[in-house]
Amino acid sequence: MRTDAIPVHPLPLTAEQAESMLQRQVKKHHIAIILLHWFNAIVWFFELLTGLALISSPLFRVAPRWYISIVDGVFGTRANMLQFHVALGLLWIGVYLVYAIFGFRTYLSKEVLRNEIALDLDDYRWLVVRTRRILGLTREALPPQGIYNAGQKLFAFMVYAMIPLVMVTGVVMAFRLFGTQVVGWAVVLHFCAVGAVVCGLLVHVYMGAVFPEEKPAFFSMITGTVNELYAYRHHFKWWTVIKAEEQAWNQQHADEAVAPAETARPGSSSADREPGCPG
Ligand code: HEM
Repeated sequence: MRTDAIPVHPLPLTAEQAESMLQRQVKKHHIAIILLHWFNAIVWFFELLTGLALISSPLFRVAPRWYISIVDGVFGTRANMLQFHVALGLLWIGVYLVYAIFGFRTYLSKEVLRNEIALDLDDYRWLVVRTRRILGLTREALPPQGIYNAGQKLFAFMVYAMIPLVMVTGVVMAFRLFGTQVVGWAVVLHFCAVGAVVCGLLVHVYMGAVFPEEKPAFFSMITGTVNELYAYRHHFKWWTVIKAEEQAWNQQHADEAVAPAETARPGSSSADREPGCPG
């Protein structure tokens, strides 16, 4: 595999190089991930919408009264709203189970988890430099990042940790499992786990849907691809991996193209020789 031409650090690009990289697309997300992500986003939208209205009693509520009465109006009764919340939650768990069973090796392998949530030294440095840049304390360049940056990795880690908690506590509450005390704790944990995800989502949705520099990332969650220039500038370490794979692929195909040509050379194949001629 030839990797000698791949730079170790991001180098300044000429206008031509930048333009040609802008035109080339590289694959970032598998279709299964895209479908799961948007299914998950839709489920969270409706679960939060109904969940906020469900947490209301004469003593405690988190949403304003006007909001609760609108959602009440849509569902007619509180029981209908709860039924919808539970049914959608169970469908969500079912889809994740199918995904976990059939995609376990592909999407939850050690390699995927290492690339998507494990932080390396560059990630720790990225967190420090990014924070200092936001505070206006430095203009230092951000350290190179893998397929996800350190902020995305932290968010993903939190989501992967909280989702099972939301699911288990949801099931305990829905079916009143293990007695009143356990159900009581499930209510608290469910609320806290959802709260943690919502805090992360405020940044995630802003970065994904609004932040101008991250537009290619948003469209990658629809098309599955990003342009190479974005990969080079924002996810340099991932770009070097793509380049190394590309070179390996090209090399392999070049070798395969040479091999049959060599066997087909006149005189090199027994089919070309006179019958009975030795050698
Ligand atoms: C309108 C809502 C949402 C938008 C616009 C959105 C946007 C995006 C985008 C653009 C990416 C790809 C980032 C990249 O490839 O660099 C992404 C990834 C991801 N999203 Fe969302 N998302 C939304 C909702 C959610 C929800 C509700 C969750 C989970 C509770 C979630 C969890 C994730 C995770 C774990 C990833 C992969 C890692 C990461 O980027 O942190 N997203 N999202």
